Amino acid sequence: MITFDEILPRIIEILDEHKELLGHLDKLIINRDLNGRVRLIVNTKAQAHNEQIKSLAQKLAEKLRPHAYSTDAMILYEEDMDMACAGASGFMLEGLSNVQVIDRLAVESHWDHIAPVAHGVPRIAFYSIKGGVGRSTALAVSAWFLAQSGKRVLVLDLDLESPGLSSALLPEDCRPAYGITDWLIEDLVDNGDAVFYDLVATSALSHDGEIYVVPAHGAHPGEYISKLGRVWMPKILEDGTHENWSGRLNRLIAALEKRWQPDVILLDSRAGIDEVASSCVTGLGAQLVLLFAIDGEQTWSGYRVLFEFWSRSGMVEQIRERLQLVGAMIPDDETRRDYFERLRESAADLFTRHLYDEIPPGESEADYFSFDEQDEVAPHYPWAIKWNRGFAALYSMHDRLRAVERNEVEAVFAPLINGIDGLIPDKGEENV
Ligand SMILES: Nc1ncnc2c1ncn2[C@@H]1O[C@H](COP(=O)(O)OP(=O)(O)O)[C@@H](O)[C@H]1O
Ligand SMILES: [Mg+2]
Repeated sequence: MITFDEILPRIIEILDEHKELLGHLDKLIINRDLNGRVRLIVNTKAQAHNEQIKSLAQKLAEKLRPHAYSTDAMILYEEDMDMACAGASGFMLEGLSNVQVIDRLAVESHWDHIAPVAHGVPRIAFYSIKGGVGRSTALAVSAWFLAQSGKRVLVLDLDLESPGLSSALLPEDCRPAYGITDWLIEDLVDNGDAVFYDLVATSALSHDGEIYVVPAHGAHPGEYISKLGRVWMPKILEDGTHENWSGRLNRLIAALEKRWQPDVILLDSRAGIDEVASSCVTGLGAQLVLLFAIDGEQTWSGYRVLFEFWSRSGMVEQIRERLQLVGAMIPDDETRRDYFERLRESAADLFTRHLYDEIPPGESEADYFSFDEQDEVAPHYPWAIKWNRGFAALYSMHDRLRAVERNEVEAVFAPLINGIDGLIPDKGEENV
């Protein structure tokens, strides 16, 4: 009897003994169903090789138990192999160019569907493996700083299950009537416009620019739990097609962008390896994905799971240039230097192992996506945010931001705010 993680290595071993058959097939699909049971999908045209296919099926049924169908139910013949994969997540099996694994998941996950960078203004996703690392605070401060410099900033609180961003930017009595949750719920019955114009409040914290805040819920959350239970639903459109949560949210963001004309959009994602977070990180066309990290085994093992998944599903090249590590809550005492070096080393190790190119002997590093540990422009090189008493355990982040000075913010958040600022084209450049 085997367990789930042994399925793919076993299949690779068995397929290695059936190389001749694979040579005859255009494509073989390994379908792993909702319960984690495997069967084969083979093109009807391949029936000429029926005997060999049956022998492969028998071997798989025996060796993958209980993660396989019985021999007689092991093979599905399909006329249209593309239809067989429609809507499911899948990846090519390592080292085999014509064997695809189709993975049917009980929840819709987007980690392997990496949307191209969105047209329009830059979108920046703030993500972390764990909560409580100062991510929403950093986002609110970034919005504050950019608005001080005359930028128009649109911020969305997509951490719907534990919202917090909007209270940092808006006092209690200035919340808009509705939030993202309300729009997603109304959109299911084609009624998004009923709330669209009351989704945004302008923060009074901005000086020269503007901060447009779209909270998770409105001034009165209402039946929030009943709404949350439906919010991630895909929508069936009139033509029968299926629009997933990322698609719906992209439609909302595009409409907000048109209405409010921001220079940049900041997205506060949900934390963890979770299907909702996956949509923020990979489904919304973010040009920059900030990965907040504190140095610790929990952080690195979480990022390792993600990076290994991207590597296995062949997505590394699509995502790696958008990633940037952020070192959260760097200690403010004499341990700071050592801590930062450890953080950088752990991050470099992880990125090198899973995301960077291996440089063939004799070739130049400049021709590859690869960086030294100490290279300051490397995606693994942490943008450091300092732990600072003035930002710790605040009763009201909003009151704090109302009184904060630019130099205080710069002292704690400089690499982050400068990094983000550098992504936003100057007004002059846009017209060139
Ligand atoms: N740079 C910082 N230094 C010290 N404390 C901070 C800093 N940033 C945030 N905090 C505090 O850490 C806690 C969690 O912050 P929050 O931004 O809500 O984290 P997250 O969004 O990652 O869950 C809050 O009490 C906040 O005041
Ligand atoms: Mg938060």
